[in-house]
Amino acid sequence: MIRIAMSKGRVAENALEQLKSLGYTFSYFPKRQLWVIDDQKEIELIFLKAQDVPIYVERGVADLGIVGSDVLREDPLDLAALLDLNFSKCQMCLAGASDVNPDNIPYLRLASKYPNIAKAYLAENRQSGSVVSLSGSVELAPILGISDLIVDIVESGQTLKAHNLVVHKVLFNISATLIANKQLYKLKAAKLEPFVKQWEDWLKEGNQNETTGLK
Ligand code: PRP
Repeated sequence: MIRIAMSKGRVAENALEQLKSLGYTFSYFPKRQLWVIDDQKEIELIFLKAQDVPIYVERGVADLGIVGSDVLREDPLDLAALLDLNFSKCQMCLAGASDVNPDNIPYLRLASKYPNIAKAYLAENRQSGSVVSLSGSVELAPILGISDLIVDIVESGQTLKAHNLVVHKVLFNISATLIANKQLYKLKAAKLEPFVKQWEDWLKEGNQNETTGLK
């Protein structure tokens, strides 16, 4: 049996659709279940908070993981990124009010759910400033004066638009990614490689089921 850890919510919904297209069926799937096994007893899925998926994979508790590449960038662990699954696509952006020019602010205050990525932005741009780490509703930070700008994911752009905010800079693209522990993947290659190859071939045939992005 192959154990796959994945982020609860939209990532899991999309991953499940792809797994069903690959031929796996799940007749027993009670609502709010955090651990399911397919009917053929070949794969088991565990549903976690996104930030916890890499830890389960690193510790070898899960053979594979599915998580947004934003999580992998924020807290990098020495994991193998096996496949870009081409769903849950969005972008990490520097955003704020349209009249704020980051280059004209000597000390830039950023708010983000991704403090490491925000700090890296400041360091890479040799800009002095500070980062306030928030848990959500980040768009309120520049409006209420906690920060000058935000570093956050933008998918449809609707949340920014609803708050009269705009993207100032796209920092990188994000997509759901299949990950593994490098050493354990080699040790369990006989079991894992055919499964990953099957998924890779399916993706190469252009079978992705979602292509959302900035509108
Ligand atoms: C995420 C993100 C933005 C929003 C972007 O927040 O932090 O706020 O989605 O999506 P959009 O471009 O399609 O509007 P999430 O919904 O996870 O809520 P949170 O602020 O509580 O983390």
